[in-house]
Amino acid sequence: MSSTLTLLFVNFILLCATTLASDPDPIQDYCLPNLKSSASRTAHLTIIPCKNSSEATTDDFVFSGMKVPGNFTDTGLAAISVNPTIFPGINTLGMSFVRADLKVGGINPPHFHPRATEIAYIVQGSVYSGFVDSTNRVFARVVEQGEVMVFPRGLVHFLMNVGKKPATVFGSFNSQNPGMQKIPAAIFGSGINDKLLEKAFGLSPKQIALMRRRFG
Ligand SMILES: *[C@@H]1O[C@H](CO)[C@@H](O)[C@H](O)[C@H]1NC(C)=O
Ligand SMILES: *[C@@H]1O[C@H](CO)[C@@H](O)[C@H](O)[C@H]1NC(C)=O
Repeated sequence: MSSTLTLLFVNFILLCATTLASDPDPIQDYCLPNLKSSASRTAHLTIIPCKNSSEATTDDFVFSGMKVPGNFTDTGLAAISVNPTIFPGINTLGMSFVRADLKVGGINPPHFHPRATEIAYIVQGSVYSGFVDSTNRVFARVVEQGEVMVFPRGLVHFLMNVGKKPATVFGSFNSQNPGMQKIPAAIFGSGINDKLLEKAFGLSPKQIALMRRRFG
């Protein structure tokens, strides 16, 4: 191969590796973040040095912070996202989870997780749940207690409690840091130029201002 071709080939392999990237495999049984370490003050959580494993206790691997719903937002959603910041035991293990409670009629607005697929188990209630694929096809229906729905990585998804009682959903992610972008806030709450938004959505300056107040 010529050197240009070699370079292209190497770039292609690197691109594939990047596209297929997920959380790295752990290189130890577990890694409880050593928050006392000086490196931890500047490091991203995924690379905080581990505590000496002799200091680990059973309680480090048990999370008790989601026995009851969290605080409800004005859309009737209470979500407790359990990541290594509040549950150090899962650090480096490539997964995390969430407890989401929905009041009657409550919604989890359209959002997506750039770095994880989500499995959502309906612990109680009847929840209209779905996602939109990259051809804008929607896959949605009422999912009942005991059923599970999967939201593929990076795709927009949403929930609404359509039952007569509060609903509880347990979601798990195949990343310890799935990330989340709420569509309304990402568009109208992020400081994108007004003119652009007016043209993109066919809205008047007044309507844009309204959306900004709501999602800013
Ligand atoms: C971890 O702790 C044990 C027991 O206190 C000690 O023997 C060992 O040297 C420590 N390891 C490191 C890397 O500090
Ligand atoms: C709910 O709000 C209270 C008061 O602001 C706060 O102390 C508590 O940590 C919040 N709970 C959750 C799960 O975020």
